[in-house]
Amino acid sequence: MTALQSAIAAAPAPESAMQQAVRLLKDAMPHYSWVGIYVLEGDELVLGPYLGKPSPHTRIPLGRGICGAAATEKATIVVDDVNADPRYLACSIETKSEIVVPIMNGPEVLGEIDIDSDQPAAFGARDRALLEPVAALLAERLAED
Ligand code: SME
Repeated sequence: MTALQSAIAAAPAPESAMQQAVRLLKDAMPHYSWVGIYVLEGDELVLGPYLGKPSPHTRIPLGRGICGAAATEKATIVVDDVNADPRYLACSIETKSEIVVPIMNGPEVLGEIDIDSDQPAAFGARDRALLEPVAALLAERLAED
């Protein structure tokens, strides 16, 4: 967390802060198969920095997907089995579980951290405890724009 905190704070711009966060999370957590950040533009989530296989979902309307649901509900969503969730928009056939953490500036959604795992039920309280503070740090940088 300290490395993430310093990297996010020291990045010269919001875009590089997002890139650093994605890199450090992906490197630190072996069960994170795909790590990306979506930024809210109007009523669409637009894919920013990511590591993992290219996703077909580079723009997600607010009403769609687990990503759209997390932004609408303004709350973290954990899905243990993506194939059992009708909201799920598939990114890779290997993906088994997903966590989406909104990046909030007060009541306003700025974007979200989206992480997929090839392991079922890979995300729990520890991931939430790591990612929600990272989202808060990113919110400070994204609010600069
Ligand atoms: N699974 C997401 C779409 C994004 S890909 O995982 C990168 C969703 O259901 O919203």
